Amino acid sequence: MWDTIWTNADLATMAGGAPYGAIPDGAIAAADGRIAWVGPHAALPDAPERLARTVRDAGSRWITPGLIDCHTHAIFAGNRILDFEMALGGAGRQEIIAAGGGIQSTVRNTRAAGEDELFVGARRRLKLLMAEGVTTVEIKSGYGLDIDTEAKQLRVARELGRRLPVTVRTTFLGAHQVAPEYAGRADDYIDWVARVSLPAAARQGLVDMVDGTLEPGHFTPPQIERLFAAAHALGLPVKAHTDQYSDGGGGAVVARNGGLSADHLEYVSRESVAAMAASGTVAVMLPGANYTVREKRVPPIAWFREAGVPMAVATNCNPGTSPATSILMMLNMAATLFRMTPEEALAGVTRNAARALGLVADCGTLEVGKAADLVLWDIERPGELAYRIGWNPCHQVIKAGAVVHTAAAI
Ligand code: NIG
Repeated sequence: MWDTIWTNADLATMAGGAPYGAIPDGAIAAADGRIAWVGPHAALPDAPERLARTVRDAGSRWITPGLIDCHTHAIFAGNRILDFEMALGGAGRQEIIAAGGGIQSTVRNTRAAGEDELFVGARRRLKLLMAEGVTTVEIKSGYGLDIDTEAKQLRVARELGRRLPVTVRTTFLGAHQVAPEYAGRADDYIDWVARVSLPAAARQGLVDMVDGTLEPGHFTPPQIERLFAAAHALGLPVKAHTDQYSDGGGGAVVARNGGLSADHLEYVSRESVAAMAASGTVAVMLPGANYTVREKRVPPIAWFREAGVPMAVATNCNPGTSPATSILMMLNMAATLFRMTPEEALAGVTRNAARALGLVADCGTLEVGKAADLVLWDIERPGELAYRIGWNPCHQVIKAGAVVHTAAAI
């Protein structure tokens, strides 16, 4: 017998040929935390009561896969409200950095913070995401840039995954920026990250993936390729923040290294898009950063679409360029600002986000064998998830077959 079956639901499976992989009047069953059956109610082999120990009436709601936020910097101390106010007063990025702001200020605060403080701050952010249906989240380090703090951030990420009903995937981002101790010596820093800091974190079992910033003023393609080589030697997949402020050929660098994803991509070239299509690298869209920094250019969605590059969407939750804890807001921005269709936006936080994390076998669609991570929504049709602004229609979140969140009645 199955553990639970949900009936009286419209399913957006995000798999198969129909828009949203929709199955009207469907049923979905879970056993041992995995999806055991999914299909039209009429195709059930027996009465639901005879098939599962618990039968749940979904009340004609839509059910989607649990949402996946595949790019966050959710563990940090302090905030960057002063940077925000300076920017509103007309200050540019360099001026804010000269005044002690920017990523380095978050590095100082995060180095000084204890693990409990980091845990409590990140738990709050994760709970907001989970209340909007997020069941899997990626969390990066990158606010330490030294051995101890990078490992501290990643330990907190692992602890969040143990204590909350959410899957946490960790990404080592020691090459977020050059550490202050190595100012002006990016080559030396990247070699130290590749030889010392990354292997130290990996040895402790803290790293699932490796990321770096491939942008002028941060790291060059040869430097990032040295980092990628070190990651591959440790058996770790790679990805990069790239082509956000100019075309540095970053998308192609990630693609030729078999990267899971290239993230940002406002200035990516057509050649890089073709290379990403060939390697199956996901383009991760981060509209929260595009909006916050008031970037004039949006990523070339039409090129990705034409070339068949899978597009994901994420919050990029961080204290500077995207102080966002709403994945639904990102769906709206992906559609309204970037002109993705609502279906592309939803695929961006389900099927394609799973791919950006190397989790296609485990989550991202409603298919037999995958984790029974589901969200029940009070919506008329799936496009509504991208349509509204500041509205959370999440009724219930199911993680590995168990109810982990129910919206309070208003
Ligand atoms: O994805 N390299 C960019 N990293 C972040 C910004 C993090 C921050 O400003 O603290 C990004 O936008």
